[in-house]
Amino acid sequence: MLVSMRRILDLAEANKQAIGAFNVSTLEGLMGTLQAAEELKQPVIIQFAQVHESIIPLEVMGPIMVDMAEKANVPVCVHLDHGEDLDYIKKALDLGFTSVMYDGSALDFEKNVANTCIAVEMAEEYGASVEAEIGCMGREEFGSVGAEGDAVESMYTDPNEAKEFVGRTGIDALACSFGTVHGLYLTEPKLDFDIISAIREKAQIPIVMHGGSGVSPEDFRECIKRGVRKINYYTYAAKAGGENVKKHCDEADGVVYFHDVAAWGREAMKADVMAAMKVFAGME
Ligand code: 13P
Repeated sequence: MLVSMRRILDLAEANKQAIGAFNVSTLEGLMGTLQAAEELKQPVIIQFAQVHESIIPLEVMGPIMVDMAEKANVPVCVHLDHGEDLDYIKKALDLGFTSVMYDGSALDFEKNVANTCIAVEMAEEYGASVEAEIGCMGREEFGSVGAEGDAVESMYTDPNEAKEFVGRTGIDALACSFGTVHGLYLTEPKLDFDIISAIREKAQIPIVMHGGSGVSPEDFRECIKRGVRKINYYTYAAKAGGENVKKHCDEADGVVYFHDVAAWGREAMKADVMAAMKVFAGME
């Protein structure tokens, strides 16, 4: 069933868990993610990132996401990830997305506040929720090429700024920077857990971790204990799908059919998403 982000975050809060927010840039990723959620009976967030417009347009993927969310037998929020401009956010809301992220993190603080307030006002008309970001989580073009390195400490979210930002914008969830980056890590991530606790205490808001791929189960658990309630995850699932396709293609002797390629990708992405969901839900 299609639900708002607020509903999903309430469930996460009640269960002291985080809900996985999986970027779906292909039908295989979408189907694998929903199958994983239904098998584990877990609520889930399926999200489309504006940067994936070059893989498949929002107009094509969005209606399929909403339709499949409505038919799912677990709560599913359909979210726009890293919406960079307000027109694009409006497009997602018009398609029936129940949550949007306005990413003004590259702007100065006042401009980020002003634009986020517009996004909140727009989303309210649709009964949708809003996530916004302060701090910086590395390059935006997460996924196939990966991130260039560690997060820069000077870009970590300032808890006092977070408090002011949340108070002035009225957002539902805050994406914070505390050591994770989008894409593949070149060195092991070192997370600053105290930042999570401080933001949580001051801003009293569900915290969103971006760059979930490559974080260890122990670190996920610590982040969740301190108040992370939504975990964005993409690169490792996409990589698992690609690696399984490669393995089968390498082993094949003779013709390879694309419908098999799609199935190999979907199976591996589903398994990877399922493993992540189990950690986020405290099932292991
Ligand atoms: P990863 O691709 O590093 O898992 O991050 C995904 C993300 O944060 C999307 O916003």
